[in-house]
Amino acid sequence: MLDNKTIEIIKSTVPALKEHGLEITKTFYKNMFEQNPEVVPMFDMGRQENGAQPKALAMTVLAAAQNIDSLTNLLPAVEKIAVKHCDCGVKEEHYPIVGKHLLGAIKEVLKDGASDEVLDAWAKAYEVIAQVFIEKEKEIYASRVK
Ligand code: HEM
Repeated sequence: MLDNKTIEIIKSTVPALKEHGLEITKTFYKNMFEQNPEVVPMFDMGRQENGAQPKALAMTVLAAAQNIDSLTNLLPAVEKIAVKHCDCGVKEEHYPIVGKHLLGAIKEVLKDGASDEVLDAWAKAYEVIAQVFIEKEKEIYASRVK
């Protein structure tokens, strides 16, 4: 679990990030699709263009971070997203790619507003959130093999 300092930093930076949510999201997808084109086929580009999915992924990470000390509140939402992920073939090894570009987008958009301390806290929070999804998706994949 995360230490109190990290939780405090996360909670204090969520509002600024939400304010720049769309810009962070756009930067995130642009960089990820350019630098990790292997993930592109999993995404429905029609939804990318109309802006529905782009907002969902990054904003969910922010929402999860806001609830970082009570992640069980999010479990019903996780279940639904995890099913979608499994339908799209999302695997454990994809999480560091999303994490790298999400952190990169936060830094690119917030610029000096994102100190090393802030970025470090977000990296830790992302790890915790990603782990919740990875575990759930492992269960779903295992249940589908039978
Ligand atoms: C903790 C990290 C993540 C969160 C919070 C998250 C969140 C979401 C949300 C909210 C949706 C929309 C679900 C729906 O429409 O029902 C979604 C869809 C999706 N996510 Fe994730 N996601 C995460 C990680 C990943 C990773 C690592 C990948 C793989 C690169 C990925 C690929 C996808 C794809 C392919 C879809 C469907 C998009 C489409 O239809 O175009 N996600 N995700």
